[in-house]
Amino acid sequence: MPLQEILLHKMANFRLSSKKEVVQAQEAAMQNPEMFWSSYAKESFHWFTPWDRVLDYDFHKAKVSWFEGGKVNITVNCLDRYAQTKPNARAIVWEPNNPEDEGIVYTYAELLCAVNKMANTLKQQGVSKGDRVCLYLPMIPELAIAVLACARIGAIHSVVFAGFSAQALAARINDASCSLVICSDGANRGSKVLDLKSIVDEALQSCDCVSHVLVVKYVGLDSHWVEGRDIDLKPLLTNASDVCEAEVMDAEDPLFILYTSGSTGKPKGMLHTTGGYMTYTAYTFQNVFQYEEGDVYWCTADIGWITGHSYIVYGPLLNGATTLMFEGVPSYPDYGRFWAMIEKYQVNQFYTAPTAIRALAKASDSLVDDYDLSSLKVLGTVGEPINEEAWQWYNKRIGKEKCPIVDTWWQTETGGIMISSIPGSTPSIPTFATQPMPGIQAQLMDDKGQPVQNKEASGKLCIGFPWPSMARTIYGDHQRYIDTYFSAYPGYYFTGDGADRDDEGNYRITGRVDDVIIVSGHNLGTAPIEDAINEHDLIAESAIVGIPHDVKGNALCAFVVCSGDGEQVTLSEVNALISSKVGPIAKLDVLYMVKGLPKTRSGKIMRRILRKVGQGQFTNLGDISTLLNPDVVDSIIQTVRG
Ligand code: WT7
Repeated sequence: MPLQEILLHKMANFRLSSKKEVVQAQEAAMQNPEMFWSSYAKESFHWFTPWDRVLDYDFHKAKVSWFEGGKVNITVNCLDRYAQTKPNARAIVWEPNNPEDEGIVYTYAELLCAVNKMANTLKQQGVSKGDRVCLYLPMIPELAIAVLACARIGAIHSVVFAGFSAQALAARINDASCSLVICSDGANRGSKVLDLKSIVDEALQSCDCVSHVLVVKYVGLDSHWVEGRDIDLKPLLTNASDVCEAEVMDAEDPLFILYTSGSTGKPKGMLHTTGGYMTYTAYTFQNVFQYEEGDVYWCTADIGWITGHSYIVYGPLLNGATTLMFEGVPSYPDYGRFWAMIEKYQVNQFYTAPTAIRALAKASDSLVDDYDLSSLKVLGTVGEPINEEAWQWYNKRIGKEKCPIVDTWWQTETGGIMISSIPGSTPSIPTFATQPMPGIQAQLMDDKGQPVQNKEASGKLCIGFPWPSMARTIYGDHQRYIDTYFSAYPGYYFTGDGADRDDEGNYRITGRVDDVIIVSGHNLGTAPIEDAINEHDLIAESAIVGIPHDVKGNALCAFVVCSGDGEQVTLSEVNALISSKVGPIAKLDVLYMVKGLPKTRSGKIMRRILRKVGQGQFTNLGDISTLLNPDVVDSIIQTVRG
């Protein structure tokens, strides 16, 4: 047996439990990525047939395949094997929006039956392998079940976050030519009931590809019904058989499409395939969260985002974990809800976003103490850079300084967590995502497009070698995939993010490089300046953009949201703050106090709108239909017009 293989075998289950094991895994995966991932894939999953070839790739053509020829079904690995070995273990625990209502628990045996019923229902509707199915559902068990049911029969799921507008939904349905939509009549969101069916109805006016809509009658709205098209899902499920043989899939057969916003208006349908995605999400879930048998794991994301796909559904279930799924919002019935749920379910791993942490820190500091959070072992964050203040609050108030924080950097495109510390093995460092996962060849690029040689450096973050869960293409537009990710630095995948690296190789993500503003020749990241502004007592949120300036090239323009009504802040006091936090090179030329910032559904500020308005352009702002709060744009224009 070659040395490396012996080494890999010694790492029982590929579970990283010490610094030494992390280093060994990093070395093994660096020296021989194919052996590393194939050993893990072979040992961890059921395959109908072994693969012909572990890896084939050409980054210049953006072509990647892992385990091609291997036959597998991801749901067999998520469900059947645990339904056999531990049928009564809890798979999904569902908590409804209203804490007074009763939740639902699905054991592995029950979840398998539910998925099979849904899978058979899809088949009855004529859905077969390779067909695209759009899921437009709230965070109810049917969403997770429908995701898995598609995978069971080889249909490609395209989950659209149930908060997108009719126009955005239609664009996504048409882009993937989905033949079927599964939705609910409505959704509960805090104290509100949202009418989803009418959004679907409006969207479908411009979608010819859809033949049927399966409707979960959930909130009890009296929905408009299109005879011949709309079908009540529940009776079909009741009558369907709970046995459904899993479709035999090639490792490179598509598993799902998930849309992400690009720098242009048209969303990008990132296509993920089966075997590599399965391998990488399972591996990262187990190691980043250090999940142990019997633990309860909770990720607060929505399944409409990649975080929910990989770390509510697939990653946890592949590991036989108990995954908590929450329908509601952190503020309902009050800002203590998350902490109440952690106590109620004795949550061990808790994974959320910096924006939620900041909101909770502002609102519920005193509420935290009402709950017993002693079950927590690992805290996670994802989605944007976490500022020091929020990190410290999370660490002290929630983790009581005894839970490692995993600041996990990754993207819709990467499928799984790329950079993170490993609890118990490698340290958490505030504002640093820290170390690339084994097998992730991170590089920083300098302004000339060359990899930076120094360990301590700043640059554009690229990945120099394929990893199993990377997206394979943009659905229907491979050229755009090449142009967006593989052209800026030939031979590398370009993430679009900037990062700093310290002398120990720890990465700190500084933000999207498209958000960098060059002022007087200085590269200024928006994130650190905004962090500084946000430290102002009266400021809740801010966004800065560059506006053209005769002398400096760009000037900084800030849009700030004050925490109270009628609060006033001055340009000079904010500049003093920035100067002390970032340095005197960063100074605002203009500051607007606004009621809110234009945000995407995932909470990202849409800077291109602010950039235009900041420059005095009030029309042709591009597609604003995907904004969470399109109304805010008008009020910002009023302020700037002043
Ligand atoms: C972008 C990807 C991956 C799940 C959610 C977002 C930013 C993500 C971090 C982090 C700093 C982060 C990056 C990335 N981002 N995680 N831990 N620290 N920035 O997925 O919507 O595809 O966004 O989110 O800018 O490129 P996404």
